Amino acid sequence: SLQDVKLINLPKVLDERGNLSFFQNNDQIPFELKRVYWIYDVPGGEHRGGHAYKDLQEVIIALSGSFDVVLHDGKEEKVYSLNRSYYGLYVPQKIWRSMENFSTNSLAFIATDAYYDTQQYIRDFEEFKLLTNEG
Ligand code: TYD
Repeated sequence: SLQDVKLINLPKVLDERGNLSFFQNNDQIPFELKRVYWIYDVPGGEHRGGHAYKDLQEVIIALSGSFDVVLHDGKEEKVYSLNRSYYGLYVPQKIWRSMENFSTNSLAFIATDAYYDTQQYIRDFEEFKLLTNEG
C-alpha cells in the first residue's frame, strides 16, 4: 500500500569537485537490482507509466530536472515531486504509478528488482482496483 512507499535520502558525498551519490543492493535500497532504465526527451505535457506491477519493486530518481510521480494503491492517491538527484522514491509492488510534469531535459532513472516482462504489467486501472481491494 502507499504506506510502504518511501522517499529514500541517498548518500551525498559533497565535494568541491562535484557531488556524488550512490546506492547498492540491499543497503540504501531494499532489494537486489536486476534492471535499470531511464526516460528522457519527454515532450512537454506527456505522461509515462500509467500502470502497476504485480511483483516488481522499483526506485525512481530524478537524476536531472524534475517530474511528479503519481501513486495510487487502489484506495488513495499520493503525489511525489522529485527534483533532486539524491532522493530515491521506493515504490513496492501493486502500486499504480504514472509520471508527469516532466521539466525540459529531465532524466528519470528507474532501478528495479526484475527483468522486463510484459506479464508483470497491470494496465487496466479497474482491474488493478479489483486486485488490490480483494485483500
Ligand atoms: P513501458 O514500461 O510500457 O512504459 P510506459 O508505461 O511509460 O509506456 O515501456 C515502453 C516500451 O519500452 C515497452 O513497450 C517495451 C519497452 N521496454 C523494454 O523493452 N524494456 C524495459 O525495461 C522497459 C521499461 C520498457
